[in-house]
Amino acid sequence: MSARFLILCSLILTLFSCAEPQVELLSPSIIPAPQSLQVNPGHFTINEKTTLSNNDDFTASHDYLTTFLERATDRTWKTEYSETNSIILEYDDSISSKEGYSIENNEQNITIKASSDAGAFYAVQSLIQLMPVDLNNITEIHIPAVTIKDEPRFKYRGMHLDVSRHMYDVEFIKKYIDAMAMLKMNNFHWHLTDDQGWRIEIKKYPRLQEIAAYRDSTLLGHYNDTPHQYDSKKYGGYYTQEEVREVIAFAKARHINVIPEIEMPGHAQAAIAAYPELGCTGENAKVAMKWGGVFEDIYCPSEETFTFLENVLDEVVELFPSKYIHIGGDEAPKTQWKSSPIAQQVIKENGLKDEYELQSYFIQRMEKYLNSKGRNIIGWDEILEGGLAPNATVMSWRGLEGAIEAAKAGHDVIMTPTSHAYFDYYQSENDDEPLAIGGFLPLEKVYYFNPIPEELSDEEATHVLGVQGNVWTEYMTTSDQVEYMAFPRMLAMSEVAWSADENKNYDSFINRVEYFHKRLDAMDINYANHLHEIEGKLNSNQEYELSTKTLGKEIRFTTDGYEPDSSSKAYESPIPFTADMTLKAQVFDDDEPLGRLFTQEFLYHKGVGATISINKEPHKSYPGSGAAGLINGIKGSNSRYGDSEWLGFWGEDIEIEIEFETEVELDEIELRFYNAPGQWIYSPERYEIVLKTDFDETVIDRMDVKNNSNSIFEVNHKLFTPKAFTPKYKKMTIKIPNYGIIPDGNQGAGNKAWTFIDEIIIK
Ligand code: ACM
Repeated sequence: MSARFLILCSLILTLFSCAEPQVELLSPSIIPAPQSLQVNPGHFTINEKTTLSNNDDFTASHDYLTTFLERATDRTWKTEYSETNSIILEYDDSISSKEGYSIENNEQNITIKASSDAGAFYAVQSLIQLMPVDLNNITEIHIPAVTIKDEPRFKYRGMHLDVSRHMYDVEFIKKYIDAMAMLKMNNFHWHLTDDQGWRIEIKKYPRLQEIAAYRDSTLLGHYNDTPHQYDSKKYGGYYTQEEVREVIAFAKARHINVIPEIEMPGHAQAAIAAYPELGCTGENAKVAMKWGGVFEDIYCPSEETFTFLENVLDEVVELFPSKYIHIGGDEAPKTQWKSSPIAQQVIKENGLKDEYELQSYFIQRMEKYLNSKGRNIIGWDEILEGGLAPNATVMSWRGLEGAIEAAKAGHDVIMTPTSHAYFDYYQSENDDEPLAIGGFLPLEKVYYFNPIPEELSDEEATHVLGVQGNVWTEYMTTSDQVEYMAFPRMLAMSEVAWSADENKNYDSFINRVEYFHKRLDAMDINYANHLHEIEGKLNSNQEYELSTKTLGKEIRFTTDGYEPDSSSKAYESPIPFTADMTLKAQVFDDDEPLGRLFTQEFLYHKGVGATISINKEPHKSYPGSGAAGLINGIKGSNSRYGDSEWLGFWGEDIEIEIEFETEVELDEIELRFYNAPGQWIYSPERYEIVLKTDFDETVIDRMDVKNNSNSIFEVNHKLFTPKAFTPKYKKMTIKIPNYGIIPDGNQGAGNKAWTFIDEIIIK
């Protein structure tokens, strides 16, 4: 058995069984991982005589494979049957999943079986991934003998792309769709309209093309930077109906359905800029030039607006064969409706309770219209407010709560929570990452996303159609940047969507991703590469553990402040943390450093090793390292609140109890909060620290705390103690009320704010 095979076999061992092949495996790294893959002895060789036979009308899969083979072998492929040396596409009605398939690949033939073209198409994708990436200058293609049986876990496997904040040409949209097809994804959610630009040609309304498609200027830098600066350049464009048709046809040939999103009733500022009569104020709005805040402009629920939207949807429905049309529904501020006589009249006439029921009325009316055209709506989870439209599918983004409520009410749901599916969030804690909206969503967190909430019964869980990665493009000015943010996280999401839960194994995945880099290189995809970075974590013995995920590498480290080189100490066991320390570490492949330098500062303060509890559990999506992580001597990232240190609480008042092992004298207490209003995170406006001796209490009560920070808010309390007597404290309690409801005019207005807290530094 070759050494190379041993390595490759061990990579996949956790997932698949391995038998010894007679040739080297070329590329066993199929993503998403199939349900079962067995490697057999031998291989199939594609040579100048190999034929392709299509025993059913598997059109898309046959055409896709023919095009691929013609490019790879530089010859024409006629479809003809032969007993041996053939790639055979065969109908098999015993394959119950319409998207399922089998591949039996031996010395004689490659036989693909499926009960539909979609299944055969996914078999073709797996087959291509069994071939070497670089097919240039080779006359014979060796494909390892394998038996694969495969079918998807979820029927909805989506990727979203926002083309309003930034727009990308049709060639790029096709490239994105092609990558989705490779990963067996089947729904492209095209976010076509928003405040910053309307991007689909609607022939009946030319001002959408003339006015709504362009903004005068664009925000430079981050929304949190002050003062805001602009580039003073006109920006925009739109996809013509011809181009839209071209994209839909391209996607269809890859078994991808294209779901258009036409936002309503909020995120409508661009449309209102073109047709002010659609708004409630009669004022001339402009196409939005910045992001981060929620814009007050909203469609007024007048008959004129409904006619406009119905006419727009008529053209949309004509173009898009999708059963689903996405009508947005998120972040619709109600301020203008509150003071609009038209909106108030609609509320009165229809016996509605308030503006939330008006939003529900609006959505239900549009649903009825689309249902009458044989289509169903998808809306973001805000469409639950004021009552869910009867046939709506909910796309849950603010968490999983919306999905749980909707599924329990018998509605289908698609899971896209910010915590696991927002690929506009940072994917690394490195400070030199390209500017992004915020947050932290590393590859592993995407990979381990569990789309079935525990709160759902088996029956309710059948309403979870699947998952989707979202790419909001405020900070992605180029398609290169979209690729950087989407890859490799799209690979992880494809495995969440397709692969069986029991087959999930991040170590296996990450090594397949390392191999997959070559494939992405060949496709000229500008993926992010954080594979050789080091992860660290403190264990319960106050020792620090280092790890790296790719196989066959070594970690070397120092604690003296110098950068490690190939002669530095190799990491073999956890490193004790008993004093302040700076740890530097690097991955090496023999003598060659890979990835980037890992640095961790340790602060050995008086809280380290104390007992801690919090009256509330942190939110499931932001558990940090639990309560103990607040006094573990490690500060959370200055820019990534989703890391392993920050604890997030949504709308809850929290109370933290710390008990020291022995009584301690205290000089100083530092609290650290995260503050990012653009992401609904607010540091508290008041808090209270109670220090307890055996006899009495000292209370530090801070009200009206002014916060001028953009990200981290640190507050420091020096304790002045009388000279004659130094109290020794046994316990302390920190009470932190939540900021409350997010005020109007801010991102997430009307929602509960998040509190993020990290290291409590006790000196
Ligand atoms: C959303 O991210 N506003 C759906």
